[in-house]
Amino acid sequence: MTRTIAVTGAAGQIGYSLLFRLAAGFVYGDEPIRLRLLEVPQALQALEGVVMELDDCAFTRLEAVEITDDPATAFDGVDAALLIGSMPRKKGMERADLLQKNGEIFSTQGRALVNAADHVKVVVTGNPANTNALIASHHAPDIPKTQFTALTRLDHNRALSQLAAKATEVTGEPVYVQDIEQVAIWGNHSATQYPDISHARLAGRSLAEVIGDEAWVADEFVPTVAKRGAAIIAARGASSAASAAHATLEHLRDWEHGSSGRWVSMAVHSQGEYDVPAGLVSSFPVVCTGGSYEIVTGLEIGAFSRQRIDASVAELQAERDTAQDLGVL
Ligand code: NAD
Ligand code: LMR
Repeated sequence: MTRTIAVTGAAGQIGYSLLFRLAAGFVYGDEPIRLRLLEVPQALQALEGVVMELDDCAFTRLEAVEITDDPATAFDGVDAALLIGSMPRKKGMERADLLQKNGEIFSTQGRALVNAADHVKVVVTGNPANTNALIASHHAPDIPKTQFTALTRLDHNRALSQLAAKATEVTGEPVYVQDIEQVAIWGNHSATQYPDISHARLAGRSLAEVIGDEAWVADEFVPTVAKRGAAIIAARGASSAASAAHATLEHLRDWEHGSSGRWVSMAVHSQGEYDVPAGLVSSFPVVCTGGSYEIVTGLEIGAFSRQRIDASVAELQAERDTAQDLGVL
């Protein structure tokens, strides 16, 4: 079966890092794919250059690449839509400043998604990702809300990397990211997010106990992960691209093919789980199986976690209220 994947903002930084790995089979392995690449008219020429490079790779599984500036054409019959194109945050800008500009983009794209396949999987990477996913979903009322997700896998990966380094330092033995399980990102993909290690395990032991340093967790780990995006912007003068592309592909791969029982983090529509108000798109720990995801249930939420989750959820509510005031929701 040939899959058709739409990628928006395809001529941008993340697009350039993502398209070649998608075409090389990172998500769909040996299954053939077709790409539909959406850009604004002024970026179509640059996108033609990207397509020339895709051609020059002679990917054996890439059946076709089409480019367009029309969302309805881009999403026609697609199996998955990676909504990356938006205005990236620049130095000194707050993510909430982006809501007005991006609200329009995601309303239009949400309406155009009516043309997609019934089973379409939507991954929103463009910021503010959670609220953009909410807006797109709102404008696509015929598509089940479970099919709209936003990216917090990058935050999840950032957390794993920090934790593996700390556990290596503390134990004096090499600890690899794959040794660490049951890490969770809660809330918004923003500086208020809550990277949670209270359920995390390392070789059958509580990771918090192995690290044995609550102050490090609260004062170093949580802020380092939550502010990593801003740190990269400060260092590079541009937002993360290769790591964001990788996380977007891992998100889609696991959603399609399963996460092998491992927890991953995805921002998904809340139905009131863990007292996150129903209707918000919030990050949760999930397990993916058989083309769908389930929020991990039954977790005990301690006082520190409760306070951090509530703070991020309050920001999501504020973003939703702003979007409503702007008339995009
Ligand atoms: P970029 O500016 O390099 O590329 C964005 C592209 O989107 C541009 O080519 C632009 O022409 C295009 N675009 C703008 N409006 C469009 C529209 N209406 N339709 C189609 N294309 C459109 O930015 P980037 O570095 O690739 O980042 C893209 C987005 O991803 C930004 O919002 C950034 O903040 C976000 N991001 C999210 C995460 C995450 O973890 N969720 C991580 C990094 C970056
Ligand atoms: C990131 O987490 O790297 C980005 O979301 C940062 C940003 O605001 O673009």
